[in-house]
Amino acid sequence: MKTYDFIIVGSGIAGLSYALRACRHGRVAILTKREAENANTAWAQGGIACVQSPEDSFDRHVADTLDAGAGLCPESVVRTIVSEGPAAIDELIQWGVAFDHRENGAGEDELDLGREGGHTKRRILHSKDTTGREIETKLLAAVRAAENIDLYERHFAIDLITTRKLAFASSVRCVGIYALNEESGEVLTFRSDRVVLCTGGSGRVYLYTTNPKVATGDGVAMAWRAGAEIANMEFVQFHPTCLYHHEVKSFLITEAMRGEGARLVDREGRDFVKDYDPRGSLAPRDIVARAIDREIKRTGSPCVYLDITHQPKEFIAERFPNIYETCLRLGIDAATDPIPVVPAAHYQCGGVRTDVNGATSLPGLWAVGEVACTGLHGANRLASNSLLEGVVVSRRALDDALHRAPLDRPTEALVLPEWESGDVTDVDELVVIYHNWDEIRRLMWDYVSIVRTTKRLQRAATRLQNLRREVQEFYWNFRVTTELLELRNLVEVATLIVDCAARRRESRGLHYTLDYPETDDRAWKKDTVLSRF
Ligand code: SIN
Repeated sequence: MKTYDFIIVGSGIAGLSYALRACRHGRVAILTKREAENANTAWAQGGIACVQSPEDSFDRHVADTLDAGAGLCPESVVRTIVSEGPAAIDELIQWGVAFDHRENGAGEDELDLGREGGHTKRRILHSKDTTGREIETKLLAAVRAAENIDLYERHFAIDLITTRKLAFASSVRCVGIYALNEESGEVLTFRSDRVVLCTGGSGRVYLYTTNPKVATGDGVAMAWRAGAEIANMEFVQFHPTCLYHHEVKSFLITEAMRGEGARLVDREGRDFVKDYDPRGSLAPRDIVARAIDREIKRTGSPCVYLDITHQPKEFIAERFPNIYETCLRLGIDAATDPIPVVPAAHYQCGGVRTDVNGATSLPGLWAVGEVACTGLHGANRLASNSLLEGVVVSRRALDDALHRAPLDRPTEALVLPEWESGDVTDVDELVVIYHNWDEIRRLMWDYVSIVRTTKRLQRAATRLQNLRREVQEFYWNFRVTTELLELRNLVEVATLIVDCAARRRESRGLHYTLDYPETDDRAWKKDTVLSRF
C-alpha cells in the first residue's frame, strides 16, 4: 500500500496546479491513465477568461457568466471564481506560462485579449490558438522538476476506496484509491485522506466530439459508484464549430475566430444565425449550436461554414497558426475558403457536485475542473471559463483540504483491503468491447444530443440498461484493462446523462427537448441532483 498526503487523479490544469501548490505541504501522487500531457487541457485552443483590462470589470464578467448559465449559476460562486482569476493568472505566469502580448498603439506592451461568444468584453488571455498546450507543457515541466511529487503515468484509477466497506469505520469517507498499472497489469492500493479528482470530462460518450480519447468520464463514474452526489449531467455543451472532414475528426475551430469577425454561413454564404438570435455568430454556444443543427436538418446539407476570409492571410496565419496549417494540409485555405464545420460534444457542465472549494458530498474527496459541478457553468458554460475554474478552484480545494484534514494530525493507520481479482481470465475478444463502445457513442449521438425528446431518452435508457448489464459481466469475468475500465465508465456516465435529461421537464440552456420547449422557472430553476445511497 502506498501512502501519500495528497492523491490527485488527472494531469490537466486542475491536477497539475493543485500538485504544484500541495507539494509545498506534503507528499503528492499524481495518477494519470496515459502519458501526462495527454489531457483535455492540452487541447484547449481559445484561452482563459479573466478580467484584465480597465474597460472590463468583475461585474461584467459575472453578468456574462450568469446570462450564459440560464438561471442556474449561483452568483456567489461565479463572483468568487471570477474575482480570484487575476491572482491565479499571476501564478500561471510564475510557473512559466506565456500569454500573447501586443503593442497598444501608444508604444506600450499589453496582454492581447481575445473575445468569444457570450462575452461582452475582450477578456480571453491566449497563446496563439494553442493556449492549452502552452499551459499543459509549462505546468508539467514544473511538476517534473518538483521534489515532492510522484507522477504515476499509465496508471488507471479504477475505484475510490471508502470506509463503507471497512467494518470498523465509524463514518463514511474516502480513504484511497485502486489503480491499475497498465504496464505490469498489477492493481495498486493508494492510501490518503485527501483524494482529488481532476479527471476532466466525458466528450467521448458521443460519436462526434472535440475531446481527446482520454475524455471517458472516469471521475464522475468513480465518484458515483463511491456514493458522491452528481449534478446537472444533462447539460452537455456542443461546440458549434468542429472541423467537418472525413480524415480529421475531433479538430476544434476555436470560437476566438468568431471573436475576430468570422461568421457562420450556409452553402450560399448567408449569415443564417441572425435568423435565430440578433447577436448572430457570437451568441452563446447553445443558441449557435442549435441554429446549426436546425439548418443542417432543414437543408440536408452535411455541414455549415465558418467564413473568416475578410481577414488578411497574414493575420489568420499569425493569430491561428495551428488551425491555419491544419486546414491547409487538408486543402482548405482559411484565407480564401470558408471552413466546413459541424457541432460536436465539447464540455460537460455537470459532474461531481461540489461547493466552491471543490469539496464533494463524500468527505475526503474533492473534485476540480470539468469533472466537477461547482455551479459556475449553470445550464451553459461561458466560453473559456473552464480553465479559469480549474486553476482557481484547485487553490481553494487545497486550502479546504488542509483545513479539514490538517497535515499535523497523524494519518489514521487503516489497513485497506487489497484488490481482489478473483477467478478471471484475459478478455478473449476485444471486438466485443469496441462494439459496445461504438454502440454507446452512436446511441448517445442519435438520441441524447442537441435536440432531445422524451421518447428518444426512453429508448436510450433501455439500450443503456442492456449494455450496462453486459459490461458488468465483462468486468466481473475478465482481467481489467484500460479499454474495459473506460467502457465501464462510459456506460455509467451515459446513463447518468440520460437520467438527468429525463428528469428535467423543461428546456433550459444546453438541455433542449421538443416535448417541453419552454423554460419553467417555477418548477425547474434548480440543479438536477442524483445520489446513489
Ligand atoms: C474555443 O476555443 O472555442 C473553446 C474555448 C472553450 O471551450 O472554452
